[in-house]
Amino acid sequence: MTTRSNFGSKLGAVLAAAGSAVGLGNVWRFPTEVGNNGGAAFILIYLICVLLIGVPVMISEFLIGRHTHANTITAYERLAPKSWWRIEGVAGVFVAFLILSYYVIISGWTLYYLVQSCIGTLSVAQDFKAGFSAFIAHPWWPVVYGCIFMGLTHLVVARGVQSGIERFSKVMMPLLLVIIVVLVVCSFNMPGAHDGLRFLLKPDFSKVTTRVMLSAMGQAFFSLSLAMGCLCTYASYFSSDTRLVRTAVNVSLIDTLVAIMSGFIIFPAVFSVAGVQVDEGPGLVFITLPHVFQMAFHSVPFLGYAFSVLFYLLLLLAALTSAMSLHESVTAYVLEVANISRRRASIIVSVACMLLGVACSLSFGPWSGFKVFGMNIFELFDFAASKVIMLLSGIVICLFVGWKLDRQLVYDEVTNGGTLRFRLFRLYIFLIRYVVPIVIGVIFVNELRQ
Ligand code: TRP
Repeated sequence: MTTRSNFGSKLGAVLAAAGSAVGLGNVWRFPTEVGNNGGAAFILIYLICVLLIGVPVMISEFLIGRHTHANTITAYERLAPKSWWRIEGVAGVFVAFLILSYYVIISGWTLYYLVQSCIGTLSVAQDFKAGFSAFIAHPWWPVVYGCIFMGLTHLVVARGVQSGIERFSKVMMPLLLVIIVVLVVCSFNMPGAHDGLRFLLKPDFSKVTTRVMLSAMGQAFFSLSLAMGCLCTYASYFSSDTRLVRTAVNVSLIDTLVAIMSGFIIFPAVFSVAGVQVDEGPGLVFITLPHVFQMAFHSVPFLGYAFSVLFYLLLLLAALTSAMSLHESVTAYVLEVANISRRRASIIVSVACMLLGVACSLSFGPWSGFKVFGMNIFELFDFAASKVIMLLSGIVICLFVGWKLDRQLVYDEVTNGGTLRFRLFRLYIFLIRYVVPIVIGVIFVNELRQ
């Protein structure tokens, strides 16, 4: 076996993993969930979910990766030779591949909006809804932007772990944090910012139903990039003195902070324009916000312009660092199993993913009539990956670490061979043995019923 690369520093490891977790979900999903589901009450529940479910699962993924220093599939094979547990590794790599194929298309839209805001097209009053629908249904423009985005991701991953992923994460994550702070300041200075903040933060415990609690858990799981093999792959590059528990806590903190700050950006801005409705997901960032930016541009041109450019840059950076981790988890597998160079492996992954990506993109336009179970290709991929496989594999990870792995091995790994103290070890084991699998199981049944 060739010598395997490692992250060169602990900071690099934390920033790379945080880059995986901080993604489009933080910016376009979390704020809306908070606004619609009880404001600060939702944030509180979300924090509890991150601590009790997110962090334990993340620690589990980290220890599997770091113990084996291998790609996700090989990791399970080594820990449980010749057994069905291998399927868990396969699911991780497969799901990363699937997600990457549609993530590049959506990220391509982001790139398109960044370009449009840079050249000033977005500052002209127009029907943003019609514009957005027309763009995503176009047979090849979204594909072109998707390819450019994939090209960027490819360039980083092909350079390797230290000089690609780590180096770029160390630049992009701080930049991302700076942009967020600037945007929060911009947003607070918009007229009507108070109303937006009040809407976002007013705790309303009457809105907290079982459904809301389940969606907080689902969101925590998705936002932390759990159960997709990505964190496991990154952890396989951690050095032997990286503190797993501390890293998991830091990554979760950064991710949550970015999510909350995104709310501070979006709500004051949206409320500054009367009558604009707060959508979720693509509608929010590609229809509602351009409208807001355009109005802001109308009153204070510089503010409107800077706001829109920085906002799409933020989205692009968030998407890029997540896409890198998805790409890396597939590339690491291809590279180690086929025993070929990183350059080759990453080309194979990029091209194969892009082919699927084209199908996803076409499913918004020419192929929109093609449906499976009432979903187009894009929706089908998203449903299979982020609803079904992600949750099931979350359960399996907990069962694997909680019941199958030797307790001493787990202890040694999280305490770096007994050199660190982990007072909550018993609690951790209790959570991943009983609490987390049951909770995820309930979320899963709930998602399926919807
Ligand atoms: N966490 C990402 C976000 O908030 C989305 C995501 C889920 C992801 N699983 C992932 C990103 C795995 C990279 C790798 O948008």
